[in-house]
Amino acid sequence: MPFKAVVGAQWGDEGKGKIIDYLAAQAALVIRYQGGANAGHTVVNEFGEFKLHLVPSGICFPGVDCLIGPGVVVEPGALLEEVAALEQAGIRTDRLWLAERAHLVMPWHVLLDRLEEEARGGRRIGTTGRGIGPAYAAKAARRGLQVADLADRDWLARRVADALAEVNPVLRGAYGHPGLDAADVVEQYWGFGRALGDRVIDSLPLVRRALTRDLPALLEGQLGVLRDLDWGTYPFVTSSSPLAGGAAAGAGVPPWAIQTVVGVCKAYTTAVGEGPFPTEDTGPLADELRRRGREFGATTGRPRRCGWFDGVAARYAVEVGGVTRLALTKLDVLDEFPVVKVCTGYRIGGQTVGTVPPLRLLQGAEPVFEELPGWQVPTTGARRWEDLPSRAQALVRRIAALAGAPVSLVSVGAERSATFSLPPAGQGRRPG
Ligand code: IMP
Repeated sequence: MPFKAVVGAQWGDEGKGKIIDYLAAQAALVIRYQGGANAGHTVVNEFGEFKLHLVPSGICFPGVDCLIGPGVVVEPGALLEEVAALEQAGIRTDRLWLAERAHLVMPWHVLLDRLEEEARGGRRIGTTGRGIGPAYAAKAARRGLQVADLADRDWLARRVADALAEVNPVLRGAYGHPGLDAADVVEQYWGFGRALGDRVIDSLPLVRRALTRDLPALLEGQLGVLRDLDWGTYPFVTSSSPLAGGAAAGAGVPPWAIQTVVGVCKAYTTAVGEGPFPTEDTGPLADELRRRGREFGATTGRPRRCGWFDGVAARYAVEVGGVTRLALTKLDVLDEFPVVKVCTGYRIGGQTVGTVPPLRLLQGAEPVFEELPGWQVPTTGARRWEDLPSRAQALVRRIAALAGAPVSLVSVGAERSATFSLPPAGQGRRPG
């Protein structure tokens, strides 16, 4: 079964949108399987430049079904705005579907996200403020609302009243907020339900059709392995699972159907939000990477933290994320550096380790760097492996070896044509 998962192999913002947009030319179905409007997948193609937050990155291909899967948490107002912007740019959205089992981000989730962050003070996580954590918390606590609840006004009113009976006392008692009015919320969300109309579907037949007809399908993750709820730099993580394992549950696809897992990583490292980031630079190197890579959050506009490529985090992401091949993005950002570094280990408590430990140890990790000579010629025009200078090829090979997976795609620019595939020979160990 040709299901391919595309997962972030770092801390998010690796360029998954661009890679999905590239791969979607051969796909019949693209499913977003987790996260919410905290995503900021940037896609640049013949229609222009788009920041997709909820809509799967295959949307620019008219023949592709795009499903927002059951594992996603959906802010319906944000989704409708995104759809309107796409339509305005001439992109058809009549094959955009929303799984009825997906959970809704409610106004109190957004409110709680911000109030909880404020209350954390110095211990804040640096969330996107889109209500993601509280929406998943409500889902796990079994008081969430599903997209299906929008279909019947009385039912919706009961679900909202039940939720607010628990939430309003918290808003009032813990945060001095007056609380939310159930009637207002019902009015607003009933309107959203009407506007979403028959995009809301049972997602199983779509997946079943792809499986039985052997149609190529992509599973689109949000964020990266290092922000996974179980395997990320907890508690500085998101509240869902960006792993390929999370793709099976979040998209409603049997695990055996996922045969390829493309791990997307940049030729350096970035992160938005708080938490450990062993190769982070806070001096001129970070400024340079941020400037050349235009490293500002697509959802929040926050400047991204930047540093050299982290081979330890990448190998860990390959292992737990189930990555079978890598897509290496933004290689061109390193074009002018006389020397390029990669992290090959962490020094923790006097020892060198090659894995990502839990927070208590990771927070003191010092990166061990290896230096490679820079190539100092532009690569933005490269369209084949042979077009890359040999020193850039050497970095790609070193990254593959450190991460333990072959690099099968490289991108050297934002537009679709700046991504190309690599010959399979000898860049790294292919797991399994
Ligand atoms: P949340 O997903 O908004 O709860 O944020 C949890 C963590 O994930 C924070 O460190 C955020 O900065 C980070 N995060 C969430 N979404 C993105 C994204 O699309 N790119 C990069 N970081 C993100």
